[in-house]
Amino acid sequence: MSYWVPGKIIICGEHAVVYGVPALAMPIAKGMRLELIEGEIDEFVLSFDGGGTTFRAREDGAPLEKMLYALQSEFQSAFTRKQVRVFSELPTSSGLGSSAALGVGLLNIACHQCGVTANEQELFEQAMKLERFFHGNPSGVDHASIIAGELIRYEKGRTSLPWMPCTPEAMPGLVVAHGGPHQGTEKAVSALRRRADSNPKWFQSCLETIRNIVNQTERALLDGDWVKAGQLLSENHVVLSDFGVSTPNLDALCDKAIQAGALGAKLTGAGCGGAMIALCQPEDRQKVVRALEESATVL
Ligand code: MEV
Repeated sequence: MSYWVPGKIIICGEHAVVYGVPALAMPIAKGMRLELIEGEIDEFVLSFDGGGTTFRAREDGAPLEKMLYALQSEFQSAFTRKQVRVFSELPTSSGLGSSAALGVGLLNIACHQCGVTANEQELFEQAMKLERFFHGNPSGVDHASIIAGELIRYEKGRTSLPWMPCTPEAMPGLVVAHGGPHQGTEKAVSALRRRADSNPKWFQSCLETIRNIVNQTERALLDGDWVKAGQLLSENHVVLSDFGVSTPNLDALCDKAIQAGALGAKLTGAGCGGAMIALCQPEDRQKVVRALEESATVL
């Protein structure tokens, strides 16, 4: 069997979502395909790049291997003597949700193999357990948006359905670009926690600023007010820069997008490298894509 699962972007609210502020996130058109095949060895093996890189389920291995071990322990029969091949269109370490996509994809395969039907809430809770192997204490926004399959407003701890789809249509003027690998979500989240602990007053006021940005962006998207939404995305980027999770390259990509006509731009995901998004009037999108393609991979 084969299963396709999308990556994700965070429209606004990343990092703050870890502290209970809402975030807006959505799946993207690029993702990964997982193929389940009978293994020749008595192990559960995951392979990438057409078999070039393989990982085995191990209790004391790397985070991915521990995750496979947990999955195999939970769904014994699904993965005994099986190999899963992953064909991904998502750049690794991009902040575009590849670990969440992998977890959700493997869970869907497991449920299918075991003849179990999991509802979105059950899938979310299982995926959260898997995501912890990679990101320590994730907010859940990445896999919530992948599972929901549409733009969502997500608030940590409020994982019960419905997740409030907050825009009727995909955004026609959205551009997603990957500028280079990031340092890792857990590292970025921990570094910010240290800054937050050393200056709680400053941090609380930043969280309130982001909460306002998220609420206003949701409204603007519902109204189709791209100008306002773009402006809010750029404001969110400024706070993320204050958090120390932007980089000169991400700042330069955002500036480039705006110079080419975007209404606003920001990093997306954990930052410290990785991807950015720009919001444009639909008719200006191609110009912005061409400008970004000079120094980034547009998805
Ligand atoms: C990562 O895609 C989003 C972060 O907010 C971390 C999280 O929500 O767990 C940086």
